[in-house]
Amino acid sequence: MPESNKKNNFFGKVMLAPMAGEGDYAFRAACKKFGADYLVSEMISAKAICYNDKKTPLLAKIRAEEMPIALQIFGCEPEFMAKASDFLINEAIKAGTPCAAIDINMGCPVPKVVKNGEGSALMKTPELAGKVIKAVKEACGETPVTVKMRLGWDAANINVVDMAKIAEENGASAVCVHARTREQFYTPGVDISHIKTVKEALSIPVIGNGDIFRAEDAFNVFSQTGCDAVAIARGALGNPYIFAQIKAALEGKEYAPPTPRERIEEALREIAVRIEDKGEYAGIRESRVHLAHFTKSLRGSAAIRGKINFIDSFEELKETLYSYIEELESAKLA
Ligand SMILES: Cc1cc2nc3c(=O)[nH]c(=O)nc-3n(C[C@H](O)[C@H](O)[C@H](O)COP(=O)(O)O)c2cc1C
Repeated sequence: MPESNKKNNFFGKVMLAPMAGEGDYAFRAACKKFGADYLVSEMISAKAICYNDKKTPLLAKIRAEEMPIALQIFGCEPEFMAKASDFLINEAIKAGTPCAAIDINMGCPVPKVVKNGEGSALMKTPELAGKVIKAVKEACGETPVTVKMRLGWDAANINVVDMAKIAEENGASAVCVHARTREQFYTPGVDISHIKTVKEALSIPVIGNGDIFRAEDAFNVFSQTGCDAVAIARGALGNPYIFAQIKAALEGKEYAPPTPRERIEEALREIAVRIEDKGEYAGIRESRVHLAHFTKSLRGSAAIRGKINFIDSFEELKETLYSYIEELESAKLA
């Protein structure tokens, strides 16, 4: 990493990418525990903040143990984006848990977001995107602003280098590039050559993102693009160990993967945190998708997932999972 970028890198090398719906506090805390240097919140609607929506600020709640964490906002009106940034920064300071940065979402592909000109639709309106970034930067003062983007809208309109330069010119401290277009959503595979081009064109740090599911994938992104850090989203679902695994690989150290018992006990700890945060009803339901990820590579996991989906209490969930662990362990001994 060039010296100048080392100084400007306030997020480390291996970070958690934002995930609306799944990247909640319980999940983030587990990622942090297993080595994520930096976290990003689920995306937060700037408009909802400005219209005093009651539930939205809950997405921005920061707990001391998950710092440093950036709060990600989405929207396309410079005034709303600036006002929301100012609100979020001040609320976090008042709570004694300042956010490390405001991250601007220019990558979300979902129709209900892009139809309003928000998320990855901002890649189609570079001038407006520049105004949004500038307004947010002015509102943020000392707090850094970062921008997460895709390669462009579609294969015929790849403009990530221009957009990254616009971000830099308007005061962004780093950009994160998910190496796909909006039209690709999440498949097929990423084209990381564009991350390299962005890295060569910018003086601010560049974070590479997309399809990092194993330490080798992270290693390839670093070595093929020269990026300053990598961000991981789906690869951390049910696998918070990926951060420690990548760091071990980067340092040339061995990493012992968790046993099935360790995986399931970790899943239960994550669920306990989610229940404490959101109550048993929502905590159990929202944990089902996480549990499916935690157990997906284990023997008999389809049957256990079928059972779990009908369980409503934590006690019953624990009993079911512990007897599953015992089945797994006795099958191994048999
Ligand atoms: C369920 C889900 C929710 C996501 N939510 C967000 C979000 O709120 N903000 C954002 O910038 N990207 C979001 N993303 C995109 C990821 O941050 C990431 O860019 C993308 O999944 C590629 O990285 P990966 O291959 O490591 O998953 C989301 C992805 C998934 C799968």
